Amino acid sequence: MGYDVTLIPGDGIGPEITDATVKAIAATGVDCRWDLQLGGMAAVEKLGTPIPDQTLASIRTRRVALKGPLTTPVGPGYRSVNVALRKEFELYANIRPAKTILPGRYDGIDIVLIRENLEGFYSGIEHWIPTKDDPHAAGVTTGVTTRYGCERIIRYAFEYAVRHGRQKVTIVHKANILKMVSGLFLEVGRAVAKEYEGRVAANDMIIDNCAMQIVLRPEQFDVLVATNLFGDILSDELSGLVGGLGLTPGANIGTTASIFEAVHGSAPDIAGQGIANPSAQMLAAAMMLDHLGEVEAGLRLRNAVVDTIVTDGIRTKDLGGHATTQHFGDRVAARAQG
Ligand SMILES: NC(=O)c1ccc[n+]([C@@H]2O[C@H](COP(=O)([O-])OP(=O)(O)OC[C@H]3O[C@@H](n4cnc5c(N)ncnc54)[C@H](O)[C@@H]3O)[C@@H](O)[C@H]2O)c1
Repeated sequence: MGYDVTLIPGDGIGPEITDATVKAIAATGVDCRWDLQLGGMAAVEKLGTPIPDQTLASIRTRRVALKGPLTTPVGPGYRSVNVALRKEFELYANIRPAKTILPGRYDGIDIVLIRENLEGFYSGIEHWIPTKDDPHAAGVTTGVTTRYGCERIIRYAFEYAVRHGRQKVTIVHKANILKMVSGLFLEVGRAVAKEYEGRVAANDMIIDNCAMQIVLRPEQFDVLVATNLFGDILSDELSGLVGGLGLTPGANIGTTASIFEAVHGSAPDIAGQGIANPSAQMLAAAMMLDHLGEVEAGLRLRNAVVDTIVTDGIRTKDLGGHATTQHFGDRVAARAQG
């Protein structure tokens, strides 16, 4: 069975790492019929806009996309392309697993962060308050959480735990200070947790304590669920525990489509040199295969990445090695064969 999937190679290192990833997916035997589309700066240069209509139409029809990192052009008139895609396809759940591949400062980390992707302080509702002398005397951003949005993401986290045999969900909040915007998240979280009593354990934790506990005693965490801003920050912290951005994948799950990508950006400092680490993009592809129901192929791809790094010792520069993107990718493809 084949799958129609939108492929957005993206900017900077994007084409290099998505090329290696597409080859690795082909090696698993899963037949993806790629519809190549532009986004980010590559799209600005060719079509004058970072999110062309044909890219949106392709995702709308295929409902699944593998996306390389996109550079958000600096300058007036450009919203973040990634935020715009989340809004367009209501990609409300951002899943970021952090699992140790190469033991470093920490070993045995296996935490999944589920971040609400649409609400909170990323609402885009903001304005300046000017005075006579200073047009930016104060800045106001409105954080919005809805009961519907809280319930949807928290329920997603508990269902994720059930589906993946996870033991515990930690609800992250700042309800002591942000009584409404975060208080609602905690209120709904506790109510949903009750429904899963006996199946999934639950606790809640204030964000600042949680940030500290993650570096102090990460083994206490299993699944974390957080609002947009807190989840954004904590997911990068979790990346740090497992060796950095080159190893962390992400999935954006929505009601009308799902987009799979690496957590990192377009890395313009190393673009075009053939030295980028494609692991995060490949691990995102493995999440995509799971999503498509190709769980065995997803596992094979995931294991191929881990074995290439750990058993074969083939590593790109960011992991202290000398392998090129292509050499690393070829080895993963060889190992991923079905
Ligand atoms: N999902 C996305 O599309 C996404 C996410 C974050 C940033 N961005 C965009 O990417 C651009 C660059 O952002 P940035 O420099 O802040 O962050 P970045 O993640 O691109 O790079 C940060 C550092 O990590 C390194 N790095 C990142 N990925 C790597 C990989 N796969 N292999 C080896 N090294 C890697 C880079 O070389 C750089 O030193 C910006 O335009 C930003 O808006 C896009």
